[in-house]
Amino acid sequence: CQPWLGLIETYREYLPVSEKTPVVTLYEGNTPLIPVPSIAQRIGKQVRVFVKYDGLNPTGSFKDRGMTMAISKAKEAGAKAVICASTGNTSAAAAAYARRGGMRPFVLIPDGYVALGKLAQALLYGAEVLAIKGNFDRALEIVREMAETYPVTLVNSVNPYRLEGQKTGAFEVVDVLGDAPDWLCIPVGNAGNITAYWMGFCEYHQAGKCGRLPRMMGFQAAGAAPLVTGHPFPHPETIATAIRIGNPASWEKAVAAKSASTGEFNSVTDAEILDAYRLLASEEGIFCEPASAASVAGMLKVKDQIPTGATVVCVLTGNGLKDPDTAIKHSNSQFKQGILPEVKAVAEAMGM
Ligand code: F0G
Repeated sequence: CQPWLGLIETYREYLPVSEKTPVVTLYEGNTPLIPVPSIAQRIGKQVRVFVKYDGLNPTGSFKDRGMTMAISKAKEAGAKAVICASTGNTSAAAAAYARRGGMRPFVLIPDGYVALGKLAQALLYGAEVLAIKGNFDRALEIVREMAETYPVTLVNSVNPYRLEGQKTGAFEVVDVLGDAPDWLCIPVGNAGNITAYWMGFCEYHQAGKCGRLPRMMGFQAAGAAPLVTGHPFPHPETIATAIRIGNPASWEKAVAAKSASTGEFNSVTDAEILDAYRLLASEEGIFCEPASAASVAGMLKVKDQIPTGATVVCVLTGNGLKDPDTAIKHSNSQFKQGILPEVKAVAEAMGM
């Protein structure tokens, strides 16, 4: 049994690295593909449904897959500082990997719209956090311009190494299932991850590792659904702050992935996202962040289209611990406080 040494060592032959690349890794990847039978049952026919729980990566999201590559390549090129715009997860991953690689991470975030856990991470890892009075789309415009003018390497998913790293999510799904699934459901914000997954499936298909390709089903929040409506959202809004994005950078690539795979873009309301978020936690024991639950919410929304016997994988992109505020505010559980510290009082509170 080989120890897991991270994505770059495991999938080296599929990645643009050489012996000279200094690998900056936190042993990311190798996240579990978990069956979710209660959710599968709601589809009302015989199907297999799995979640790819990428919230179990070292910084708690799929961004680690892209960041091990982007930071290793930045280090190879001699970068001293990196910069990104972020709704939170990219900032946490950039901060962790950049510091591990001995670089300065600068992160631009939309002031007031980043979940608490992500902000805590970026700060503690040692990022220089700059909150702007604007949304993610504006922050991305600024960092793109900055990277052209100043000695900082851009590590958003417009950096091609990010997508190279993220495509390994698709490799892992195929390595476990023995083939690609029929459907791949994924939340879409800046549209890098859907692009990366499609790249991964296509490369593995070409290498003979899978016999088929999945339909790429991309789900956006209804208040931030440019790929669904076909036009940018100047003021995106959703409780799923990770995907509160109105003008995705990988727009064309995502459309190409959807079309080539005969997939679909669709939107889910915040209420549908929260339903799936609670369902995953309370019936399957899986705590993801709200944006991640959009993949499951979307699958349930279009469940009638799923063929009997199909295998469906929903990508859960981030860990629920990232956003404790939303969890506490939107749980259906009873939280009884102020109980007297006596057996009788506790039993009474338990209804026994
Ligand atoms: N899910 C989570 C938890 C995310 O953090 C993101 C994006 C997405 C889904 C969407 O992925 O952008 O590749 O389509 N988060 C970025 C960030 C924007 O800054 O952390 P995408």
